[in-house]
Amino acid sequence: MSKIAVIGSISTDFVVTADKRPEVGETITGNDFSTTFGGKGANQAVASARLGGEVYMAGTVGTDLFGKELIHNLTENKIHTDYVEPVTHVPSGSAHITIVDGDNAIVYIPGANNAIDNNRMEKLSELIESSDIVVVQNELPQAVVEKIIDFCFAQQIKVIYNPAPAREVNQSVLEKATYLTPNESEFNLLFPEMTISEGLAKFPNQLIVTMGSKGVYYHDGTSEKHISSYKVNPIDTTGAGDTFNGAFAVALTAGLDMEASIRFGNLAASLSIQKFGAQGGMPTLAEMKESEQYEKTWNIK
Ligand code: RIB
Repeated sequence: MSKIAVIGSISTDFVVTADKRPEVGETITGNDFSTTFGGKGANQAVASARLGGEVYMAGTVGTDLFGKELIHNLTENKIHTDYVEPVTHVPSGSAHITIVDGDNAIVYIPGANNAIDNNRMEKLSELIESSDIVVVQNELPQAVVEKIIDFCFAQQIKVIYNPAPAREVNQSVLEKATYLTPNESEFNLLFPEMTISEGLAKFPNQLIVTMGSKGVYYHDGTSEKHISSYKVNPIDTTGAGDTFNGAFAVALTAGLDMEASIRFGNLAASLSIQKFGAQGGMPTLAEMKESEQYEKTWNIK
């Protein structure tokens, strides 16, 4: 089975639902509060593992209770955690999420996720070298993200770089990623001088722009392609992009081409947003296969 390494954040999500977002200085009464498992890295790892991927997670958590539960959750989802390291002196990472009408607004506190420094990276080289694909996001220090991408590029190991949350990134780093998967606003920050169409044409079969309900765009070397999203009524869009990236990794390692891998990712994301919590609705492979939209030609086992 193909080996997927996800290097990234592992966090607890503190989630409130409310009918509106408060104005500055305003207090409102919300509807609900819950803690759920999150972190873009962990979410992408869980998405891949539920879809049958052999997933190795790498990252850092605190030695607090949250850290223990975060590791336990990964194990429960059949993810290898040998490269998840508890670190002292910092609390586990957290995200503070407000959901209004199914859409989220997030304050991310890196905490222990920022403890994955370049020294720890040295230990990860053996994991990367033995993996078929590496997945990385922007909830780790930028220097570490760059080192991972540089290393993958030098070793010719495929890397999916999901540049979320948005921050400026050196163009030379972007060019080294095998696949780059920003959403629309992340694209605009990364390539302020280009339209999406110009960006897609400049990075054919590499740049994939996810646009939520508007679908996904890429360029196949000949022309720009649009893959529609599946129409559903979202309950909670948190983690939709993570589900897409995790599913995309599974589809690629299963041998699907770019277009089919994007459709597979879109279907997984559409199922995930119909339940509450970043990981709450991430589908298993069996659930994907029960969907009317599942394509037999995908042949993923
Ligand atoms: O992509 C969604 C994730 O980003 C949430 O689970 C939260 O942890 C945030 O950082």
